[in-house]
Amino acid sequence: MTKKRVAILISGRGSNMATLIEAARAPDYPADIALVISNVPNAAGLERARAAGVKTVVLDHKPFGKDRVAFEAALQAILDEHCIALICLAGFMRLFTAAFVQRWSQRILNIHPSLLPLFPGLDPHGQALRAGAKTSGATVHFVIPETDAGPIIAQDSVPVLPGDTPDSLAARVLEAEHRIYPIALKQVIEGKS
Ligand code: GRF
Repeated sequence: MTKKRVAILISGRGSNMATLIEAARAPDYPADIALVISNVPNAAGLERARAAGVKTVVLDHKPFGKDRVAFEAALQAILDEHCIALICLAGFMRLFTAAFVQRWSQRILNIHPSLLPLFPGLDPHGQALRAGAKTSGATVHFVIPETDAGPIIAQDSVPVLPGDTPDSLAARVLEAEHRIYPIALKQVIEGKS
């Protein structure tokens, strides 16, 4: 089976990236994690990717200022150079233009730490706690121009426990993220999403 070449985009810790890299080591897993791209030069995830033997590229967004189109042109050139078929956003903290997202329609996935459509955007755990939610979780979805709003591919729920803080809830949700991202990517590649 020829594995789909996947690029993972990160901005930070990279634990979801590491989980995808680990899943893709299985011979029958249909993705090849060909590249990790970070917009943050010293993102901790870069070291994890290198330790796992995955090629990394830093594309610092700062030199591009507010010119998203120029940043995306540079990103597209890197993706083309590496023959990337699918993009997985994993803690990638930049927003894309509609043009870029539409160019990658159905080929760009994101993970969000809530049960979308509940609690999109920033601070989903704080939103859940303030709402008194008894359940939260993680969502993998296709990226569309509207943030955190694309068709849902996979979800997994976790309980919100008495005394939870945003950090304790985030840690429990992160375990759900790590469970579903490899499954979601496999489903998309196998056309089951
Ligand atoms: C995860 O909680 C993800 O849902 C959110 O940012 C965090 C990234 O964590 N987008 P990591 O970099 O994958 O460890």
